Amino acid sequence: MGQTGVHIQEPKGKLGVLLVGLGAVSTTVIAGVEAVRRGLGKPIGSLTQMGTVRLGKRNENRVPRIQDFVPLAGLDDLVFGAWDIFPDNAYEAAVEARVLEKDLLETLRPELEAIQPMKGVFDPRFVKRLHGTHIKEGRTKWDLAQELIEEIQHFQENHGVDRCVMVWCGSTETHMKVEEPHCSLPKLEHAMQHDGVDIPSSMIYAYAALSLGIPFANGAPNLTLDVPAMMELAERNRVPVCGKDFKTGQTLMKTILAPGLKARMIGLSGWFSTNILGNRDGEVLDDPGSFKTKEQSKLSVLEHILQPHLYPDLYKDFHHQVRINYYPPRGDNKEGWDNLDIFGWLGYPMQIKIDFLCRDSILAAPLVLDLALFLDLARRSGMHGIQEWLSFYFKSPMHRPDLYPEHDLFIQQMKLKNTLRFLRGEEQITHLGLNYYQAD
Ligand SMILES: NC(=O)c1ccc[n+]([C@@H]2O[C@H](COP(=O)([O-])OP(=O)(O)OC[C@H]3O[C@@H](n4cnc5c(N)ncnc54)[C@H](O)[C@@H]3O)[C@@H](O)[C@H]2O)c1
Repeated sequence: MGQTGVHIQEPKGKLGVLLVGLGAVSTTVIAGVEAVRRGLGKPIGSLTQMGTVRLGKRNENRVPRIQDFVPLAGLDDLVFGAWDIFPDNAYEAAVEARVLEKDLLETLRPELEAIQPMKGVFDPRFVKRLHGTHIKEGRTKWDLAQELIEEIQHFQENHGVDRCVMVWCGSTETHMKVEEPHCSLPKLEHAMQHDGVDIPSSMIYAYAALSLGIPFANGAPNLTLDVPAMMELAERNRVPVCGKDFKTGQTLMKTILAPGLKARMIGLSGWFSTNILGNRDGEVLDDPGSFKTKEQSKLSVLEHILQPHLYPDLYKDFHHQVRINYYPPRGDNKEGWDNLDIFGWLGYPMQIKIDFLCRDSILAAPLVLDLALFLDLARRSGMHGIQEWLSFYFKSPMHRPDLYPEHDLFIQQMKLKNTLRFLRGEEQITHLGLNYYQAD
């Protein structure tokens, strides 16, 4: 315990990382962690593995690594489990995903082959482009949730796991609004028992996790946790949750650039983003319902960062368009183009073009690792409900209804690091700095 910090239980024993969906992102995380364990690669992009946190004044030179500052589970203590609607093990799924090189996958083959997905809970009404063959069948949604709960308990026993976290790395479900059955826990449970049509598969996994006190992160833009019933369950069982939609690729770039333009009071008349990608995620997003969920997640970012209501001369009515094109030859190696029409002094127009040849799962994998470790930290620190300090990782950060979400990557980073300082009873850093120059 820090001087005035929070009591944090030590991360004893093994941490089970339960991944829903064993596709490109999940297999890249699992193989990546194994590669790092063996010294075959470095965990680039992961704050928990590579980041530092400055403490105290700049001349104190106290800059520990985050993993030395807060008690996080170590990579050797992670045990992965997964569900998928296809039976491929993690090796087969990783080969299919074509993210990591074949040589690396061959080296890691025994460990990857050992991870066989459990049968998925799947309702094709919510993901239209997939036709899975490895699916739990024939019962109500309530029964399916109970089966997941039993499976998780067996997983914990079989692997000698002390605690678990769950991360949704499954396909993006179709766009949904909050409906009556989502409005309270009894209503949700009633709808699950009567096989309500408004309960997507992701909610069944989240229900199982939260019922067992297992923290849940939502890596896709699905509604999943964003309903009163799930918040009620999370609060009742004092479980930390966060989401949604991993912030990688073009949206990451937006939340890096837009705060900079705004900081300099540079105007924006339009931002057009388009990309081509050819992985299974791209195929699912080719369905208009799933795309709508994703589009809404991507569109909200600029509005919140630029605050046109406060800066009408700069941002009123800027045109924002996002396109995703499924183009199989590119596989996971997406290419994203952005055109920004900006304007400066006296309204003179300028343009910025970005051509980002990115790798979706390479950008997403470290986020999954960090989220698993930080959610476990939150749970051991007694934090529960929405973890706004993890907004850093998401395109559509969850937030209390009366607050607007924080999208600016740099504010998000400060929020995250200040939360770590808070947990350890260290002073918050405001970057004021006047006291270096005006001591009295
Ligand atoms: N890679 C990124 O940069 C990124 C960024 C933001 C969000 N995401 C989201 O993360 C998710 C995973 O991305 P990916 O590239 O790994 O996709 P993917 O298509 O390779 O993997 C998703 C897997 O989930 C499985 N699945 C679907 N529904 C399921 C269910 N109900 N139960 C169990 N398994 C199920 C699919 O069979 C598939 O194997 C997607 O929703 C994607 O939109 C990815």
